Amino acid sequence: MAITLSTLKAFKTTSEKFAVLTAYDATFAHAVSSAGIEAILVGDSLGMVLQGHDSTLPVTVADMAYHTAAVKRGNQGAFIISDMPFMSYGNPEMAMESAKQLMQAGAHMVKLEGGAWLEEATRCLAKQGIPVCAHLGLTPQSVNKLGGYKVQGKLAEEAEQMIADAKLLVEAGADIILLECVPTSVAKTLTESIAAPVIGIGAGPYTDAQVLVMHDLLGLGAGKRPKFVKNFLAEADSIQEAFKRFHEAVKSGAFPTEEHSFNL
Ligand code: KIV
Repeated sequence: MAITLSTLKAFKTTSEKFAVLTAYDATFAHAVSSAGIEAILVGDSLGMVLQGHDSTLPVTVADMAYHTAAVKRGNQGAFIISDMPFMSYGNPEMAMESAKQLMQAGAHMVKLEGGAWLEEATRCLAKQGIPVCAHLGLTPQSVNKLGGYKVQGKLAEEAEQMIADAKLLVEAGADIILLECVPTSVAKTLTESIAAPVIGIGAGPYTDAQVLVMHDLLGLGAGKRPKFVKNFLAEADSIQEAFKRFHEAVKSGAFPTEEHSFNL
């Protein structure tokens, strides 16, 4: 049976965890969804893992629509979240136009990076019946402002602001919050403070769901492996089995552990 936004919201009320994995094409969307993973993120991380850029900034709405359409064709019932790329939602009008293209390509929800400044765009999208995921914490599209890919919310006032932003955006109509690279205790407090499901990456074990970039889960990629990443292929005989192991580990709470998390 197809996973819908209602399914994901119901998981929060019954305290059942769910898993999210990035995919960018039909073949992998088929494999991810067939492994039981509840949601596919067509992330703008494709700018780095597919296109070879050193950030997500060069990714366009046309790129995202192309990959979303491919994922839709291979998907076997997972919920599809597509990233709105850099500078595609600077004002509500732009947000509506970009979201239109992604939803028409096959997305079930769009994801925007940012805090309180997204309130108006979120309200407009929600009014048009477009589900919104608000991405807080480390927001890679702001890497140049943040001064690198660093853990966010370590200072008490930053953590309070993040929690206030999450509450505001949920009130404005955001259906899901995604938290990236946030100390475990901050993510736990935030998750308990809102009714919307919270997806974490590098945010500890207490969020309602976990997401990974597929290439990280498969142990691909040069350079230093981020702390929150686990190579699930290392213990599996096939890619399909690695996806299943990730799904089971998230559902059972076995992933992430302290080893993959940040503390204050
Ligand atoms: O683009 C992406 O893959 C993401 C994840 C890192 C959450 O936003």
